[in-house]
Amino acid sequence: MRKRALFNDNWQFAAQKLSLDAPDNLFEPITLPHTNKLFPHNNVDNEAYQFVSTYRKKFFWQQPLENDPSLVFLDFDGVMLACEVYVNGRFLHQHLGGYAPFSVDITDRLQDGENCVTLHVDSRERQDIPPYGHLVDYLTFGGIYRDVYLRVVNPIHINNLFVQTPDVVPNPRLMVDVHLNHLKSGLTLEAVVTDGGGHELTTRQQPVAGQTTRLEWQELPTVALWSIDTPTLYTLHVSLRENGQLLDTLTTRFGFRQAEFRPDGRFYLNEEAIPLFGLNRHQTYPYIGAAAPARLQRQDADILKYELACNVVRTSHYPQSPHFLDRCDEIGLLVFEEITGWQHVGDAQWQAICLDELETMIKRDRNHPSIILWGVRVNESGDNDDFYTCTNDLARQLDPTRQTGGVRDFIGSSFLEDVYTHNDFSNGIRPPTERPHLITEFAGHMFPTKSWDHEERLIDHALLHARIHNLQLGDARIAGAIGWCAFDYATHIEFGSGDRICYHGVMDIFRLPKWAAAFYQSQQDPARKIILQAATHWTMGDRTGGGNNPLTVFSNCDEVEIIIGAINVGRFQPDFAHYPHLPHPPFTIGGLDAYSAWGQSKFYDLHLVGYLNGKPVAEQWIASSRLPKKLELTADTNQLFADGADMTRLIFRVTDEFCNPLPYATKVVTFELEGEADLIGENPFPLIGGQAALYVKARHQPGTVTIRACAPGLADTAVSLTILPAPKLEYRQFP
Ligand code: GAL
Repeated sequence: MRKRALFNDNWQFAAQKLSLDAPDNLFEPITLPHTNKLFPHNNVDNEAYQFVSTYRKKFFWQQPLENDPSLVFLDFDGVMLACEVYVNGRFLHQHLGGYAPFSVDITDRLQDGENCVTLHVDSRERQDIPPYGHLVDYLTFGGIYRDVYLRVVNPIHINNLFVQTPDVVPNPRLMVDVHLNHLKSGLTLEAVVTDGGGHELTTRQQPVAGQTTRLEWQELPTVALWSIDTPTLYTLHVSLRENGQLLDTLTTRFGFRQAEFRPDGRFYLNEEAIPLFGLNRHQTYPYIGAAAPARLQRQDADILKYELACNVVRTSHYPQSPHFLDRCDEIGLLVFEEITGWQHVGDAQWQAICLDELETMIKRDRNHPSIILWGVRVNESGDNDDFYTCTNDLARQLDPTRQTGGVRDFIGSSFLEDVYTHNDFSNGIRPPTERPHLITEFAGHMFPTKSWDHEERLIDHALLHARIHNLQLGDARIAGAIGWCAFDYATHIEFGSGDRICYHGVMDIFRLPKWAAAFYQSQQDPARKIILQAATHWTMGDRTGGGNNPLTVFSNCDEVEIIIGAINVGRFQPDFAHYPHLPHPPFTIGGLDAYSAWGQSKFYDLHLVGYLNGKPVAEQWIASSRLPKKLELTADTNQLFADGADMTRLIFRVTDEFCNPLPYATKVVTFELEGEADLIGENPFPLIGGQAALYVKARHQPGTVTIRACAPGLADTAVSLTILPAPKLEYRQFP
C-alpha cells in the first residue's frame, strides 16, 4: 500500500557547501519550506541568495521485512535552482531547474536505524538553467522552498492519472488514463469516484490493458459541473490489484468542465462565454522570497478571487505551488499556467531543461479543472519555430484537452499555438490579427505606482486598468485581459524603482490594496460584495492646483451620494459615458470646487453613501484632519498549526479615526512577541505608505502567542493567536 507523508521537519541548514560528514554544530535546525536567506521587504540584493548551501536531514528508518519489496522515494516539490541529492554518503540524483517537482528513488541506499539525506542546493543564477542566460525581471531566491514528501510504494504502482471530462454539455463523460510504472500479468484496476461529501458517484473495474489503461464512462449519474461560481470537485480513487491483492491506490481531484477558446474570439466554460478578467501573479513574498507555506499560497488565490474579483490568473512566468493551484480549483479561479523563462531561450541543454519542466508541469497539473491554458513559449521570447513546435507538440500530446498559448509582445510573430496570447503595452488595445486573442499583460512598467505615490498617480494607475478592461470587454475579438500585475515584486537591478522593487502591482508586496485594487474589486456583482472606495486622500493641497476635483470613486453601487461636512452635494451615477463596457464604471464626480478648492473654503470630512435600487447600502468616511489617530494590528487568521512552518500575515496600519490608512505616515512601529512563534520581517519597521505587514511563524509547540505593536504617540495594540497541535503525520517511520 502506498504511504506518503510530509518530510518537512527536522532538517539542518548551512549557508555553505559542507562535506557530507560535516558535524552537526555547523548547521542550524530548520523546517521546510525554507529560504536560504531572509531579506528586508525591499532593497533585496540578489547576490545575497546566490551560493551553494547544504540541507541535511537525519531520520530513522526501519527496513521492511525480507518479503516486503516496497520502493521508497523522496518527492521534492521545488528546489531553487539546482541540486545534488545524496543518501547515506552516496550521490543519487542531480536536478536542474527550480520550478518543477522531481522524485528520487532512495530504496537501495536505506539502512536500518539512522539515515541521512543531504542536498547541495545551488541557488546561483546559473546561465545554463531557465530562466537565466540573459536579464530577468524577477528574482528566483534560493533553498528547498517547497514541500518534500517521503513516499513508500509497491514496486508495481500507479505513476500518474489523467482525467478527461469530454462533452460536459449536455452529457458529461469521463475518461481516465492510468499509467503504471511496470506491467505484469494478473493486474486489475478499480476506480471509484466520490463527490465532495465522500459519496460514491460511480465505480469501475477493469483488467490492466498495457502500461496505460483507459477507463471510460459513456453514461454517468447526474454530476455537478465545475464552474467559477460553483467549483464542484470530485475525487477519483484508483486501486491497482494483483490477483485480488491490493498493490497501490492513487487519488486525484478533478472537476467536470469544458474550457475552450473559440474562433469567434471568446472563451467558453461549459458552453458559456466568459470574458476573462484577471491579473498576473509572481510567487514573491516579502522577507521569505518564494518560500511561502501552504496557507500563504492558498491565500493568494483567495485574494485574487475575493479581494480582486478576478476570474483568471496567469502564473507568470513559471509553474507555481501545488497549494496555490489546489485553492484555485476549490474557489473557481481560472489559471493560465506557463513554462519558465523571460525573453531568453538558451542552448540545446537549456531547452532540454525547459521541455522537461513542461512535461513535468503538465503531468503534475492536468487534472486541475482551474487550468484552462498551457503557456508553452518562454514569456516574450522571439520566434523560434523549431523549439516552439516541440513545446506545442509535447503539450498537445500530453494533454489533448487543453489549448496552448505562447506569450509574445509583438503582433505578427509565428502563431504555432492555439491562442494568440499577447502582452500589449500600448496603453490601449492593438487590433488582434489572430483569433482567439488573449491579452496577457498590460500596464506594468508603463505605469509603476507606489502606495504612497501622489494621489493623482494612484488614480491614473487605477483608471489605466479600468480603461484597458473597458476596451477589452467592448471588443468581441478579444477573449479577455490579464493585467500586470497583482502584487509588487522584488527584481534585479536592471528593473524596478531603485529599491529593487517593481511597483507594478494593484496591491503592494504585502498584498495590501492600492486604488487599482479597488477598481478590480468594484467590478464584482454587488450581490457578492458591495464595494465603495473613494480614490482620495482627502487633502486640500496635495493635487496639482489643490482641491479634490474631480473625485473618483470605485463602487458597484448604482448611485453614490457625496456629503462634505454638513452639505449634501448630491447623488452621482457611474461614468458609463467613458467606460460603457465595464459592469461597474468608476464614478467621476466633478463640481466639487465650491466645497474643497484650494484657499476657497473651510475643509470638512468627506462622507459617501452608496445606493442600490434607491436604498443606502454602504458608506465611507474620510477625515479631513488627516491626523494619525490609531495603530491597527490584524492577523489574517488567529489559528496556526505548530508544524514549524505555518505562517500568517500580520498587517499594521496607521489610520485616521475612520480607519483609512494614512499613506504619508512615517512612524516607526515596534513589535514584541510573547509565546512560541517567530516574527518574520523588519522589527522595528519604519513605515512608509502608512501600512505594511510582517509574518508570524509557528514553532513546534502549541499554545498562545501575543504580538504587541507600538508607535510613538499612538495607543499600543495587540493580537493573540492560538497555535494548535500540528496534524499527525500519517506514517510512523518518518519522524
Ligand atoms: C513584461 C514582462 C513582465 C514584466 C512586465 C513589466 O514585458 O513580461 O515579466 O517585466 O513587462 O511591465
